[in-house]
Amino acid sequence: MTSILMVCLGNICRSPVAEGVLRHLSERRNINLRIDSAGTAGYHIGEAPDSRSQKNALKNGVNISNLRARKFSSEDFARFDYIFVMDENNLNDVLRMAKHENERNKVRLLMDLIYPNEMVPVPDPYYGNERDFQEVFELCSKACSKFLDELEIQK
Ligand code: 4NP
Repeated sequence: MTSILMVCLGNICRSPVAEGVLRHLSERRNINLRIDSAGTAGYHIGEAPDSRSQKNALKNGVNISNLRARKFSSEDFARFDYIFVMDENNLNDVLRMAKHENERNKVRLLMDLIYPNEMVPVPDPYYGNERDFQEVFELCSKACSKFLDELEIQK
């Protein structure tokens, strides 16, 4: 089964939304995937997603309340086929942990799916407002839809 890991800094704002959105969209399209998320930092291990992320996702029909934060581990390179990161810091942090070319090749900015090679981030909404959380949701939705389109074409 194809496996996807969504990665941000804290695993409480952006990557749980990306995880929840991809799960929601893949279930709607009957595409069977294994999906998880993690953070490059360990500040929030074991915590539920930020209440603003939960609330905004739910407003858009996606419940992420059961997710719990964990830290990205070097073993994740072997566990997942695709590792999508939210911004350039995440990209550098994850790539620094890769030991082989095949591990590096699994890592991509999520926004690369819709803006290839432009280094577009999913902006960190932690110090932002409601609109920033909605933007995260919309960016993740667009990218995840595109990802599922690509997977279906590959079949
Ligand atoms: P995330 O957002 O990486 O999208 O989960 C953040 C969450 C927590 C912190 C920073 C960003 N923090 O500094 O605690």
